Amino acid sequence: MKKYWKLMVLLIVSALIIPACSNTADNTSNGRKVKLIKNEDQVYVGFLIDTLKDARWYRDKKLFEKQVKDLGGEVKTLAANGLDDVQIDQAKLLIEEGVDILVVVPHNAEIAAKIVTMAHKSGVKVISYDRLIANANVDYYISFDNEKVGELQAKEILKHQPEGNFAYVGGAESDHNAILFRQGAMNVLKPLIDKGKVKLVYDQYTNEWDPETAKKNMQALLKKRGNKIDAVIAANDGTAGGVIEALDTAGLARKVPVSGQDAELPAIHRILKGTQTMTVYKPISKIATEAAKLAVHVAEGKKVTTDTTINNGKINVPTILLEPIAVTKRNIKDTVIQDKFYTKQEVYQ
Ligand code: BGC
Repeated sequence: MKKYWKLMVLLIVSALIIPACSNTADNTSNGRKVKLIKNEDQVYVGFLIDTLKDARWYRDKKLFEKQVKDLGGEVKTLAANGLDDVQIDQAKLLIEEGVDILVVVPHNAEIAAKIVTMAHKSGVKVISYDRLIANANVDYYISFDNEKVGELQAKEILKHQPEGNFAYVGGAESDHNAILFRQGAMNVLKPLIDKGKVKLVYDQYTNEWDPETAKKNMQALLKKRGNKIDAVIAANDGTAGGVIEALDTAGLARKVPVSGQDAELPAIHRILKGTQTMTVYKPISKIATEAAKLAVHVAEGKKVTTDTTINNGKINVPTILLEPIAVTKRNIKDTVIQDKFYTKQEVYQ
């Protein structure tokens, strides 16, 4: 039954997304690798996204697809609704369709290693997008400096609350980024924890990055500690939203500083309202555009060099890391508005 349900999700999600690719033709491969685009000379890129639940991934998808097309390539995006089996099946599907390269936002860092093994067997290279695939021969990795994201969050919160009872509300443990965000925050908090200035009274990951779970966890924490929470470092805007709802019910919104990440529009509005302290803006246009260029170039067999490498437990993966930017009330104009991430009207509506 579970398998049937997952298959249905795969089919529905594929059906929703496939029409975006106008050039695709019917698959008559019978398992053979046949390139399913009309122009055989065109590079065919497969983009596998974990989920479209958080708003940012729509932007990644749109900008990535546009850049591949601008470079003369064809692209198909599939999202797995946070299901590992579905993501693996989707990879299989795209490999059978003859993609030249796979770009993957893994749901689970470890499980997605299977995708790399499968792709390599068919001569398809794999780029890990935003999140690192662990313990696999990943060809390239492109992301933001994720440890710095956590550092920016903790530093900004400390400006508002330099001591007291802190809660760390992490992301999904299955996402390698969540580990790095936490690591970054702890780099900043550790000296203060050691001095006894900051007491870490909560330090948990949040299953699937789910805002509702973050809210429930915060409600339980507030109850347990009789509302004695002084600051919250939430790993992204989704979890921050859940935390702030819980704080609001307890009459603590605006009193307890809360961080976030992704510069989601509701988070920008909360920052203006004063219920969220900061978010981290990661220029999605940069990662999407650079990843698309990388994918097309690698698929065309061009040599690509990167500045750095990151070890994923198996190899040193050639890596491109982009800079995240802290956003507070003070610099909304100079960041997300200046970059046209949002219009003035959207921000100040
Ligand atoms: C991304 C974040 C995002 C989170 C949940 C992370 O891997 O880096 O930008 O908020 O996943 O989707």
